[in-house]
Amino acid sequence: MKKIIDILSEVMGEAFEKASYDKNAGKVTISNRPDLCEYQCNGAMALAKEYHKAPFMIADEVTGILKGELKDKADRYFSGIDTVKPGFINLKLSESFLKEYLDEMALSEKYGVTNEEGKKRIIVDYGGANVAKPLHVGHLRAAIIGESVKRIAAYMGNEVIGDIHMGDWGLQMGLIITELKEREPGLPYFDENYTGEYPKEAPFTISELEEIYPTASQKSKDDEAFREKALKATYDLQNGRRGYKAIWDHIMRISKADLKKNYDALNVFFDWWKGESDAQPYIPDMVEKMKKEGFAYESDGALVVDVKEETDQKEIPPCMILKSDGASLYTTTDLATLLERRKIFDPEQVIYVVDKRQDMHFVQVFRCAKKTGIMDKSVSLDFLGFGTMNGKDGKPFKTREGGVMRLESLIDDINEEMYKKISENHEVDEESARQTAKIVGLSAIKYGDLSNQATKDYVFDVDKFTSFEGNTGPYILYTIVRIKSIISRYSEDTGLSGEDLLNALKGYKLNIPDNETEKALMLELSKYNSVIGSAYYELAPHKICAFIYDTANAFNRFYHENRILTEENGERKKGFIALLKLTQGILEECIDLLGFSAPERM
Ligand code: ARG
Repeated sequence: MKKIIDILSEVMGEAFEKASYDKNAGKVTISNRPDLCEYQCNGAMALAKEYHKAPFMIADEVTGILKGELKDKADRYFSGIDTVKPGFINLKLSESFLKEYLDEMALSEKYGVTNEEGKKRIIVDYGGANVAKPLHVGHLRAAIIGESVKRIAAYMGNEVIGDIHMGDWGLQMGLIITELKEREPGLPYFDENYTGEYPKEAPFTISELEEIYPTASQKSKDDEAFREKALKATYDLQNGRRGYKAIWDHIMRISKADLKKNYDALNVFFDWWKGESDAQPYIPDMVEKMKKEGFAYESDGALVVDVKEETDQKEIPPCMILKSDGASLYTTTDLATLLERRKIFDPEQVIYVVDKRQDMHFVQVFRCAKKTGIMDKSVSLDFLGFGTMNGKDGKPFKTREGGVMRLESLIDDINEEMYKKISENHEVDEESARQTAKIVGLSAIKYGDLSNQATKDYVFDVDKFTSFEGNTGPYILYTIVRIKSIISRYSEDTGLSGEDLLNALKGYKLNIPDNETEKALMLELSKYNSVIGSAYYELAPHKICAFIYDTANAFNRFYHENRILTEENGERKKGFIALLKLTQGILEECIDLLGFSAPERM
């Protein structure tokens, strides 16, 4: 559907044109004085200089046209047009047009959201978990933001792949192998002459693995010889040593299952479970080509590609392709991964949702990929760098003991807090209170994160995030649950249920709003397609959060000011129910795009 703001801008544009000004001056924006008007047009202000006229004179000419020549059209879209000094045009939307617009939304697929740019193939690279190391809160943001960005892109009709891009090829593998060898040197994996099959069962469980890694990591810091061995083991693994590859397979299988469990709990799902290891086969040819075509040259023994540009404000160092010992790096892997992605999926856009401290890395990778032809210039490579999640002390989030907080414990803490609140609120059986706590807890975590602009740091505040009041996930869910319960009471009153109720609801049309709160709610809802569009183009899920917060507030005001189920006029009551249904539908669509859902009651 056409966005309301565009419809209004067209009408205003026509009026400017008829007054012999540029029609682009008719651009309408949402009012920044909601006490005075709903929309406004500031076009006259911008024209004043060029035409040597006072802006209000221009504004008056334009409104004159709207009230004269264009009266029919203006009446259809506006219920108020006022010129105010120095030259703003204040607009109020026509109540009957608003009703008509929402009625159409209610019947449209995706409530009227359309993608004017057409469908694209997009890869969202997010999650970025490192295999064999437990997920920590740093990975939380990547998962939450990435999942939402992916869902929004898919909702806009694109073909989207979410790729976890695991860190599965680094030193952590060599550390585990080395530690395992010290503990159990007799295992066949370490016997170079062994040619038989390796055991199907891994020689460790996930909890052992989680203990082996930090132990080995600490050892490598205290003991140089151990570190050397781990580096060597990493090298041997990467160069195809059979026994080590078999251990790697075990680690991968066990870790992936564990990661999947954790991501499932967060409502985060990847289409591809690829990792850094998958890019390795592409490296040798890629490097050869870069050398042959003269992009890569040797500098202090290392192989590099220059990526600085004349307009750079700061120093952009060359992109390193191979270290002096011939080893590849994080950049090499990301470049090779693009080759793989191109081969498998040929994306038109790749979005990386990664900690913003990796900014420079991605500047280098993107420039190098374009310069060397790994990616066509037309492909858009986007870095959505997110800020740090801090504790209340303003420092990166830690456990009470000051250690790195594991994701699982963080989720458990929130769920416990939610459970307490839910069982305090009313009598519920333990089992269903726990279930609800999980659903609401997830909204607390995700909304707490997503309501902030991704690039900013934010404070993870359990008390605030789990509150049922204010700008929180639980408040949004509470609002949805309230609507659901009114509709179910309506269903009891009317005896309509299931399919019958749904069919009846489809036939209900909204009211022409006749009070301020009803109109205010309708005005919010009418912004839906515009909000989803900006959230998509600007990679900005926080815009959806702001929208549903405004909508939930508008709904709750409407709810307090209007008697819905006791409304005596039957048609008007149906109109209210239609408005409730639309509000519920849009709120639920939005929270799904944010990656959580609402319970039946709470
Ligand atoms: N594994 C990396 C880390 O934990 C994040 C990977 C991000 N994605 C990428 N394509 N580099 O820092």
